[in-house]
Amino acid sequence: MTNSFSHRISKALEERRSKELTRSLVAAESGNSSELIRNGQRLVNFSSNDYLGLANDKALLKAWQKGLDLYGCGSGASPLVTGFSPAHQNFESELCEWLGFERAILFSSGFSANQALLFTLLEKGDLLYQDKLNHASLIEAGMLSPAIMRRFKHNDVDQLSQMLASNSKDQLNQLVVTEGVFSMDGDTAPLSALSDAVRNRAWLAVDDAHGIGVLGGEGRGSCNAQGVQPNILVVTFGKAFGLSGAAILCDRDTGDYLTQFARHHVYSTAIPPSQAYALSHALSMIKSQQWRRDKLAELKEAFNSSLKKHTEVIETQTPICPIIIGSSEKASVAAQRLNHLGLGVTAIRPPTVPMNMARLRITLTAAHSFEQLKRLSSSLEDVLGEINGC
Ligand SMILES: Cc1ncc(COP(=O)(O)O)c(C=O)c1O
Repeated sequence: MTNSFSHRISKALEERRSKELTRSLVAAESGNSSELIRNGQRLVNFSSNDYLGLANDKALLKAWQKGLDLYGCGSGASPLVTGFSPAHQNFESELCEWLGFERAILFSSGFSANQALLFTLLEKGDLLYQDKLNHASLIEAGMLSPAIMRRFKHNDVDQLSQMLASNSKDQLNQLVVTEGVFSMDGDTAPLSALSDAVRNRAWLAVDDAHGIGVLGGEGRGSCNAQGVQPNILVVTFGKAFGLSGAAILCDRDTGDYLTQFARHHVYSTAIPPSQAYALSHALSMIKSQQWRRDKLAELKEAFNSSLKKHTEVIETQTPICPIIIGSSEKASVAAQRLNHLGLGVTAIRPPTVPMNMARLRITLTAAHSFEQLKRLSSSLEDVLGEINGC
């Protein structure tokens, strides 16, 4: 029996190696800031999702330290036992007020929030529609859930409408799930059109991991930016919030239902209260420090205009800047060249993105300087020229 596991493991690893798709862990010695030190090399970090530059902000560090003084380290139990503190409670209320929902339920990660949502809500016979490019946590949960899952073409509202119309018998429960900002492409979902398409037919759930804090009034995210209130909103705290964790926002009954039945909530240790305390502080910074979003927008404009002539550089309205290279080998070579030039850029390869769509995924943050951006643009000019010439 052990042998067959060993065989499976070595076969899978060899397959990855032969396709040159092996990934490896490299420890970043400097923590998460706009400069990384990896393997002793200093790199400007263009790979992090810390869009607002909060992860290393002194005020946020202090808030977490104050949370530790107030509440100690771990939460000690799941929320329904003794893991839920006034810090968790306050943060949930603040999220509800900010985003206009009745309930917010906290999770330790976006991955678990998405899984909890789909596993808890969906039953046999239900229909789940997902954008083809939705995050792995959503697609996997959809595949494992008892519902029938259909995937619509990326951002194709017409196709979704046809799918919904062909199934909309009254007794069917239909759920449509999209991201607000797509993590690997940096484009936004047509939320207003999606909201019209689902009206009276389905519930709409939006995972706004990459839009929250960055888009919308006071950083309220993609839905606010497009004037849409979905039935369910998932927000995560590992990106613009500079911390980690996630929340599902919903109406009172759905919140009560998730509190009772969402296993990732019921049977998992609550996030540390000090972290919930720090998250409240991050939220107040997100709301009040508009300069971070303004700076990000200026950096983005400078990036877009400096690389306009390169068709592989996809223009987006978010801090995510994909550069579609195609072959995995070329994408890896480009990332390595940029690393040698002191720029921390990551090649994203299948299976994270479709075959022949390997890319450099560059992310800008409010902590970058215009000088660093200039370095990035001119190095990209050189590297894209080199790999296109080879
Ligand atoms: C769209 C999306 N949803 C969910 C997640 C998972 O969130 P977390 O990293 O908090 O588990 C990610 C993570 O990258 C993501 O991009």
